Amino acid sequence: MPQESQALSGLGPESVLVLGGTGTLGQELCRQPPWPVVALGRKHLDLAVPSAAYKFVRQVRPRAVVHAAAWTDVDGCEKDPQLCFQVNAHSVAEVAQACRELNIPLVFISTNFVFGSLRKPSRAWREQDPVCPRGVYAQSKHLGEEAARRCPQHLIVRTCGLYGHEGRRCSFVQRVLDQACRGEVVRVVEDQWANPTWVPELAQAIWFLLRLCLRSGEHWGTYHVVNTPAVSWYEFARAVVRWSGLHVPVEPIRSHKLNLAVERPRYAALDTTKYHRLGGPRMSHTLEALRRYLAGGSSWVSAPVGTAKGVLVRRGSGSAL
Ligand SMILES: NC(=O)c1ccc[n+]([C@@H]2O[C@H](COP(=O)([O-])OP(=O)(O)OC[C@H]3O[C@@H](n4cnc5c(N)ncnc54)[C@H](OP(=O)(O)O)[C@@H]3O)[C@@H](O)[C@H]2O)c1
Repeated sequence: MPQESQALSGLGPESVLVLGGTGTLGQELCRQPPWPVVALGRKHLDLAVPSAAYKFVRQVRPRAVVHAAAWTDVDGCEKDPQLCFQVNAHSVAEVAQACRELNIPLVFISTNFVFGSLRKPSRAWREQDPVCPRGVYAQSKHLGEEAARRCPQHLIVRTCGLYGHEGRRCSFVQRVLDQACRGEVVRVVEDQWANPTWVPELAQAIWFLLRLCLRSGEHWGTYHVVNTPAVSWYEFARAVVRWSGLHVPVEPIRSHKLNLAVERPRYAALDTTKYHRLGGPRMSHTLEALRRYLAGGSSWVSAPVGTAKGVLVRRGSGSAL
């Protein structure tokens, strides 16, 4: 059976539809699903085609939809806002409408990039804090959130800096490892703080939230799910190099030196209190999660070098998200 037909053959009212199923998070969601899952990538359903997502969900009538698909190349999105808004926002509106009509839940994965404030906040961002999306990618994800809220049974999960099993995108951790393996000096921004998050823990938390809401019929809404506390990317890169047993210098640089098309949030740390109050699987300490990932060894050592899409690391000039 061709791969496409195989992926679609399991679809039905018992299965959860995962859009973005070929991505970093989508693949992990498929590793530990509480229900049968049908995971789709772009070749199965191209969200860039207006109305395609709406028609598809109406037709297959799944138990729930997890929308984990996005155009995640932040600088690429600046160059083609129309495509970015279609994939990251309009497709969410289409799915939300279909889910509302079918009376099924929608889980939408969003980002800490909605908090692009230039002022340093006195604490990590909570779910109800006012957003400040800067740049096309962040704005598209914010619009996606607003669209998802039009579905009564919605979960919006904001997360940050994913690493773990590699999707199409190469993670920050992998890029640092690739550079270090090549013996290059790793230069990383020291003036951006975030919550790098290990995808197996995020996937577990997403399934927990969906199960809880389906069982109880309540607790729908927006949640921050990340490893905590926030760290600077420089500090995090130092831990990556140290714990992987590689011996290359890690040097701090300032964000403005990167000359990126769009500035990344400086202080987009997320507060996970609301999620943890529900009693879900604990999200580890940021550095403990990294240590466990690196201890897994083979998954990162064997990862392909140089498959990066969307520039995170520039050889010799530093790293940025
Ligand atoms: N990665 C991060 O650090 C991060 C941080 C915060 C939030 N998030 C959010 O978390 C979610 C998952 O991110 P990720 O890291 O898993 O992403 P990823 O590895 O870049 O994968 C993106 C996924 O979206 C799919 N996709 C992209 N364009 C599409 C299109 N036109 N039609 C259909 N599918 C399309 C890709 O399918 P193909 O493989 O077929 O192209 C892939 O499955 C996204 O919503 C992202 O915004 C990510």
